[in-house]
Amino acid sequence: MLNINKQSVVAEYLPQQISPVKDSMEQAVFAPSNIALCKYWGKRDAELNLPINSSLSVSLAHLGSKTRLSVSASGGDEVWLNGQQLAVDDRFASKVIDFIDLFRRGADHGIKVETENNIPTAAGLASSASGFAALTLAVDQFYGLHLPTQVLSAFARMGSGSASRSLFEGFVEWQMGLREDGMDSFAFPLQSQWSDLRIGLIKVSTGPKAVDSRSGMNRTVDTAHLYQSWPLQAAADLEKLHQAIADKNFTLLGETAEQNALSMHATMIASWPPLLYWQPDSVAAMHSIWQLRASGTEVYFTMDAGPNLKLLYSAADEAAVKQQFPAMEVVCPFA
Ligand code: PMV
Repeated sequence: MLNINKQSVVAEYLPQQISPVKDSMEQAVFAPSNIALCKYWGKRDAELNLPINSSLSVSLAHLGSKTRLSVSASGGDEVWLNGQQLAVDDRFASKVIDFIDLFRRGADHGIKVETENNIPTAAGLASSASGFAALTLAVDQFYGLHLPTQVLSAFARMGSGSASRSLFEGFVEWQMGLREDGMDSFAFPLQSQWSDLRIGLIKVSTGPKAVDSRSGMNRTVDTAHLYQSWPLQAAADLEKLHQAIADKNFTLLGETAEQNALSMHATMIASWPPLLYWQPDSVAAMHSIWQLRASGTEVYFTMDAGPNLKLLYSAADEAAVKQQFPAMEVVCPFA
C-alpha cells in the first residue's frame, strides 16, 4: 500500500456504498475507561498511533462513555457532550468529526453525535480512551459494518492509542504489531477474573494537562536517552503481569504496575524540556502509599500522563486504604 494514512487503511474495510442503518440509530453503545498496568509510551507511527511497545490494562467496569449516532435534523454535524452541544471549532468536537469522516466516504448526511461520560470529573481521569472506543462501536453500528472486534480495536487506536484497549472488559492486552498499516496493532481481552481486585482513583488535580500525551510521548522519544531502555522494561513487565494474572499473584501485579509507571515517568523527567506531571500532592500521596505498605497494607499505585494516582489493592484492605484516602473513588473491575 502506497501512502499509508488513516483514510487509506479504513477504506480497505468499507463497502463501496455506505449509508446509515435505520433501526440501529437510536441505540447507544458503551465502552469502559481503562488504566494501563504496563503503559503505552512512545509511537513508532504518529499518523496511525502505532506504539513502540505492547501494553496491558484493566478496564474500569461501569465508568466510561456512552455514545449514540443519528442523522442530524439540522443537516449539519453536531457533537453533544453530557447534554451540551459543542461549538464546531471545539477541539474535542473536531477530533470526533475528523474520526467520523474516515468512514462516511463523503456521504451527504449530517451526523449528530451524543456522548455521555459517567467518569466523575473528580476522578481526574481522561475520557479519550472510552470516548474513541464508544465512537468506533457507534460508527460500526450506525453504518451496519459488522467489523470484527480486532479491526474495530485497530480503528479505535487511530482515535487515541489507549482507546484500542477500551473495547473490552477486565484485563486487556494491546499488542504492538509490526505491520506498516497497523492492522496487527489491536487489543484483545485476557480470559481472567479477579473479583477482589480494587482500583482507587485519587484526584490531585483535574485541570487540563500542560502537555498532552501525544506531545509528551514525542518529546520523550526525541530527547530522552533514558527512553532507550523503555521498550525492554515494558517487555519484561508485560511478562511479569501475565505471570501475576495467571497465578493471581497480587504482590507481583502491584509491584510490576508501580515500577512500570515510575519507569515511564523517569523517561519523561529525563526529556528536554523536562516533563514532570507530578504535583507536590502526587508525591505526598506516593509517600503515604509507601508508608501504608511498610505498615502491612498491600497497596500500590500507577499514574498516567498527569498528577493523579490510581491505587491497586485487594477488597480486604479497603478500610485501611479508605482511612488514608477518604475521597477516593472505588472501582471493582470484575464485579
Ligand atoms: O492514548 P493516549 O494517546 O491518551 O496515551 C495514553 C498514555 C498513557 O495513559 C500514559 C499510558 C497508557 O497506556 O494508557
